[in-house]
Amino acid sequence: MEMKTTAIHKKPLNISSERVCDCDITHLNCMTAKEWLKSQIGVWQFFYEKRDIRDKTVHPATFPISLSKKVIELFTHKGELILDPFVGSGTTLVAAQDLERNAVGFDLNEKFVKLAKSRLTETKLFGTAKQIAVCDDAINIPEYFKPNTIKLIWTSPPYANLLNRARKNKSRRDRDNGQLGIVEQYSQDVRDLGTMSIEDYTKNMGDIFEKLLPLLKQKGHCVINVPDMWWENKRITIHVSLIEELRKRGYELRNTIIWDRTNIVNKVGIFGWPSNYITMGVTFEYLLDFWKPADTTNDNRDG
Ligand SMILES: C[S@@+](CC[C@H](N)C(=O)[O-])C[C@H]1O[C@@H](n2cnc3c(N)ncnc32)[C@H](O)[C@@H]1O
Repeated sequence: MEMKTTAIHKKPLNISSERVCDCDITHLNCMTAKEWLKSQIGVWQFFYEKRDIRDKTVHPATFPISLSKKVIELFTHKGELILDPFVGSGTTLVAAQDLERNAVGFDLNEKFVKLAKSRLTETKLFGTAKQIAVCDDAINIPEYFKPNTIKLIWTSPPYANLLNRARKNKSRRDRDNGQLGIVEQYSQDVRDLGTMSIEDYTKNMGDIFEKLLPLLKQKGHCVINVPDMWWENKRITIHVSLIEELRKRGYELRNTIIWDRTNIVNKVGIFGWPSNYITMGVTFEYLLDFWKPADTTNDNRDG
């Protein structure tokens, strides 16, 4: 069924994308050499803090503020502009507020946008950086920005329809935490990427990110947080689908970072023993780090 869309004229948002630090123009971020050295390790661990939302009835899939801060500190300077196309509870905006970066987050669901806005009012306001939460489909994002203004796209997208089913797996059965039989979807809106098959999901993600590429500055990074998943005893490699699709759409993969979640997994069970070895899916996730390649159209490489 075709969805009706409301014709709203959207103007570019009034938000700065300019650095406010004194760092050398060639520097990627405001880090010292010592801080940079620590960030070179390709496996990252984080703890949740009090302000993090861990109640799945409030939002089913949030990442920690500390993870968001690390990505932002690595790939932006103070004052630069960050985009989260699937902002959920607004963790990226909270991290950007802490670090004095401008940031805009989009979500299809009004209730999550309200939640994101309320989280932003919890911390005392200082500095000149703005953080804005907008309720809209990610495919419409280009209407809100001028080209070559965004320094970092950082997000945790939905994972196709893999969470859009009742949780029946053994790990949930063993736990008395109210998650058995729960469907961790965001909505049943046809535009919600969490309702799509992996094939439709991959194509839709490609369409969204292709339209975002012109907004990104040259060599601006795009970091995507995804896990792989088990579905009917098959491994669904979401990270492979996304790497292939984003490469087709003009992004270049720079780094694959592992978010090691072993320090925050609260219960370990025996899965598949003794005949079927399966790793516990919750123990790690991928952080796929792409960038927009530098413009080479003026290169004279062929002649
Ligand atoms: C994994 S969550 C993001 C969680 C976020 N990182 C946090 O810490 O709260 C993905 C979000 O994408 C939203 N979403 C799904 N389809 C969308 C679309 N087409 N456009 C914008 N947002 C969408 C969902 O409502 C959901 O909140």
